[in-house]
Amino acid sequence: MNIKTLIVAAVVAATGSIAAHSQNPGQPEWLGDAVVYQIYPSSFQDSDGNGIGDLPGITSRLEYIKSLGVTAIWMNPIFVSGFTDGGYDIIDFYKVDPRFGTNTDLVKLVEKAHSLGMKVVLDLVAGHSSDQCEWFLQSAEAENLHYSDYYIWPSFKPEEPASNGPMDYAQLMNSSASLIRKFVKTDAPRGPYYVKNFFDTQPALNYGFANPDPDHPWEQGVDDPGPQAMRRELKNIMSFWMDKGVDGFRVDMAASLVKNDFDKSATIKLWQTDLKKWFKENYPDNVLIAEWFNPSQSIEAGFDIDFFCHDGTYNYSTLFFNINRRSGGAATCYFDLAGEGELKTWYDLYKFQYDAVQGKGYVSMPTGNHDFTRLSAGARTSQDQLKVAMTFFLTMPGVPFIYYGDEIGLTHQSNVKPVEGAGARTGTRIPMLWDASKNAGFSTAEAEKLYIPQDPDPARRTVENQESDPSSLLNYVKNLLKIRKASKALGNDGEWRLVSSLDQPYPMVYERSRDGEKCLVVVNPSAKKVSVDIPAYGNQSPEILGGFYKKASYKSGKTSDRITVDGCSAVIYSIK
Ligand code: GLC
Repeated sequence: MNIKTLIVAAVVAATGSIAAHSQNPGQPEWLGDAVVYQIYPSSFQDSDGNGIGDLPGITSRLEYIKSLGVTAIWMNPIFVSGFTDGGYDIIDFYKVDPRFGTNTDLVKLVEKAHSLGMKVVLDLVAGHSSDQCEWFLQSAEAENLHYSDYYIWPSFKPEEPASNGPMDYAQLMNSSASLIRKFVKTDAPRGPYYVKNFFDTQPALNYGFANPDPDHPWEQGVDDPGPQAMRRELKNIMSFWMDKGVDGFRVDMAASLVKNDFDKSATIKLWQTDLKKWFKENYPDNVLIAEWFNPSQSIEAGFDIDFFCHDGTYNYSTLFFNINRRSGGAATCYFDLAGEGELKTWYDLYKFQYDAVQGKGYVSMPTGNHDFTRLSAGARTSQDQLKVAMTFFLTMPGVPFIYYGDEIGLTHQSNVKPVEGAGARTGTRIPMLWDASKNAGFSTAEAEKLYIPQDPDPARRTVENQESDPSSLLNYVKNLLKIRKASKALGNDGEWRLVSSLDQPYPMVYERSRDGEKCLVVVNPSAKKVSVDIPAYGNQSPEILGGFYKKASYKSGKTSDRITVDGCSAVIYSIK
């Protein structure tokens, strides 16, 4: 397809960039124009030739990350781990795993990021440790020791309520009624059971129970001494890293802390009245990002940002995955050339969350993450399609999150052998592709030593070949971020409103606005040329700020305006 990519550098140069401060009271101001880049540390850049990425490798790529227009990085766990769940089973919360380097390497990374004007966010696995963690080993002993109350040790397994049907991932994560299914049988002296959070190797830390059952002696109250000590430890972990310069955390399974907390009120209270309160008092310029998947709860709990992506009730599956979440059957997602998707499911869920947190915090729709299929996958791997999807991601409100490699269209590898508990998630955690050198510049190790095999396609997209091609996805993404930064309306705090009808899903048209500035974004992932009527704006010839299209027309009418766009295209209009 000979579609030309509109290069908008001139427009940006003319308008300049706007330093936007977060409009949400009490939030760090830098969130107003924050753009976060997520790095899976084992897969980004290997500096010592062992086939696995590390911190000095990431440090050496910070200039590249900065060149995208990114203002912060979030790294998945880098701490000493048993690696039965890709680092989410932590053995020592205070030490960088030797595979990634040393604590000093982290400090160097942070210092360099800061010198480039970027923030560094770590992963805080607040809810569980590894079963190899010293705390757990000690807690498993029969006698009463320092860490005895850091975990939950049921003395018997209660009957499982009959009504509990199969549970999805989010329900499992959030425990609630599913707790009994997380009892793990053990020979440890403290047994016969402990409670896990995810895999058996990830025993849950003890933050207490919402309503301790007097018949279950292992259920302590949230304010009992054990859970209180646990909270102090968590604060200590956070201080330890933030005092080294780290700018905040993405909190893993943040909703899971208090057990049997069916409506999450006790977990919300715990964060709001203690953990987040303490955080804000001591580190007011730092950020707390929730993996909660329900912003209406997590922002109330005090988090600055929460995700809206693959899981929980509130997800964007109908936009990006060809699977019906309820039935498990095939479905056609919205971002597909077939043009058979629908918007209503996503719209209702998203709108609810957007309204719930407006003016208080951010809902973020990441371009991907380490737990689900990459954006470039299946029938959606062409640059054109990815440009359209990226236009959507980078013109929506909230803090944008770019999963490493999505800016070059790193393609999901579904046939790779699972590593370190990743299972089907392995294909999304693939090594970055940098250039034409050995292993695409990721590592000097032999190919079979790489953490996960790379995309074998000889025509694979790399940073190098994308940087030199003006019409590449990478250059398109950079331009989108420039446009976003230059516009108050398109920024993190700009308001959002769908102006096209849910009855006609293609194209989707939404308005972004702030302080009298208005933009319209038209997104058509289908292969068909489409027209749409929207309420009249009274603007004869809106200026095009950017987008990916061959031809686009905007006809102003008395009562309605008509926009026509090509198949697989996206246009950003400025409405004066
Ligand atoms: C989160 C992480 C996931 C991990 C799980 C257990 O969902 O994103 O990768 O397996 O928590 O820690």
